[in-house]
Amino acid sequence: MSVAPTQHLVLVGMMGAGKSTVARIASERLGRRVLDSDAMIEAATGRTVREIFASDGEAAFRAMETQVLLDALADPEPVIIAAAGGVVLSAVNRRALRDSGAQVVWLCADPATLLDRVRSGGHRPLLDSDPSGTLQRMFVEREPLYREVADVIVSVDNRSISDVVEAVLR
Ligand code: S3P
Repeated sequence: MSVAPTQHLVLVGMMGAGKSTVARIASERLGRRVLDSDAMIEAATGRTVREIFASDGEAAFRAMETQVLLDALADPEPVIIAAAGGVVLSAVNRRALRDSGAQVVWLCADPATLLDRVRSGGHRPLLDSDPSGTLQRMFVEREPLYREVADVIVSVDNRSISDVVEAVLR
C-alpha cells in the first residue's frame, strides 16, 4: 500500500516514537503540510502544552486535543497529521480517525526504545517523574488502542529514521 493522494496520512504512537521527525521528512517527500496536534493547541491558545497541563489540567488538554484533531481531519487538502501520543485515549478521536478514511500509521516502539529517545521537560509533563515506569504503563494501556486505529504498523525499534520514512511512504 502506498500513500493515497487524496487521503490524510496520520502518524500515531507513543511519545518518543519519532512522529514529528517522520512527519517533517514525509512532508518534504510528499509536498504536503504537516499539522501537529500539540503545535495546533499551542497556536490556538498562545500557551504551551506544559502550561495548559499545569493550569487547566489533563482533561482540559484532552478536550482541546479532540478539537484540533477534528479540525485537522477536516482540512480540505490531504495533509500529514502528527497526532500526539494521547490522541488514541478518546473513543471520539478513535472513531473520527476511522470515519475520516485517513491512512493511519502507528509508529510502534518498545518502551525501552522510547525511554532512550524521550527528553524530559518540554511538552511532556507526564514524564516528569518516573519516565520509565510511566512509559511502561502507558504502553500497556495504549497498545490496543493504537492497534485499533492503525491501518499500518511500522516498527521503529533498531531502525534509522530514513528507513522508517521509507516504510511509512511505502
Ligand atoms: C502526550 C504526548 C505529548 C503531549 C503531551 C501528552 C501523551 O505529545 O501531547 O505531553 O499523553 O502521550 P508527543 O506524543 O508529541 O510527545
